[in-house]
Amino acid sequence: MNRFKGKVALVTGSSQGIGAACALRLAKEGCDVILNGHKFDERGEKLIKEIEAIGQKATFLVADLSQAYEASHLIEKAVKQYGKLDILVNNAGVEKRADFWEVTEDDYDLVMDTNLKGVFFSIQSFVKHCRKNSVGGVVINMSSVHEEIVFPHFAAYCASKGGLKMLTRNLATELAPFNIRINNVAPGAVSTPINKDLLNNKEQLERVTQNIPMRRMGTVEDVAGVVAFLASDDAAYVTGSTYFVDGGLTYHYEEQ
Ligand code: NAI
Ligand code: BGC
Repeated sequence: MNRFKGKVALVTGSSQGIGAACALRLAKEGCDVILNGHKFDERGEKLIKEIEAIGQKATFLVADLSQAYEASHLIEKAVKQYGKLDILVNNAGVEKRADFWEVTEDDYDLVMDTNLKGVFFSIQSFVKHCRKNSVGGVVINMSSVHEEIVFPHFAAYCASKGGLKMLTRNLATELAPFNIRINNVAPGAVSTPINKDLLNNKEQLERVTQNIPMRRMGTVEDVAGVVAFLASDDAAYVTGSTYFVDGGLTYHYEEQ
């Protein structure tokens, strides 16, 4: 498949985990890719080499997306890189575990600023670019099943992903006249470094997977496939939706 021939995508937070898999999947389908993270290190270098080996262009732009200015500016830098930007995947995200009554203002700010504020301003900058150049575009936000279902001890995380749910619904309507589509992907429990504590705790992992109808954790490739679909013209009439990639976790009920 060559669904993204001639297209350029920016994938935020793509040094590892779901973001790296999305970048690779888009490249495998013909996309040039701009990678991003807090810092450029051997993970970014390796991914650039992998993408170049496929025959696509790749570059890495450092930005801290918890800062609104850096999020906006990243889009401008990305556009300059290859002269255009067609697809924005807002993947970077963080979570902090704490009892609600112990959550600090710093942790609240980190989670909300990274998962919601930075996303808000990167989309705003992308939309300015599309409008200025009279081109359409595609935005995909990496939400979570926790835009919909509860996650005790992760109140700020749930608030940020719940906010993303409404942001996407709202912008789908406002941006449709400009041929800009926007959707959320909502993974369930996926094997990535964000879940390292869970993955290192055999008993807890067993309980989590028993609660998933498909009885396994998701893989980064499971998520990347849906991102590629939503980014492609196969999803030309899809906007304002959330696609759950969760092995059935969200709408799960079994009689005990
Ligand atoms: P991860 O921790 O492996 O990757 C997150 C990436 O975001 C890292 O590369 C990190 O450096 C980057 N990042 C964080 N803050 C940043 C900032 N301020 N500026 C630039 N980059 C920043 O985690 P994973 O699992 O790959 O998560 C990716 C997204 O998927 C997140 O938005 C997360 O909330 C979401 N998600 C993950 C699930 C899972 O089970 N792994 C399930 C549901 C959603
Ligand atoms: C969280 C993971 C969690 C998953 C399922 C994600 O949003 O980042 O830590 O395992 O949801 O609960």
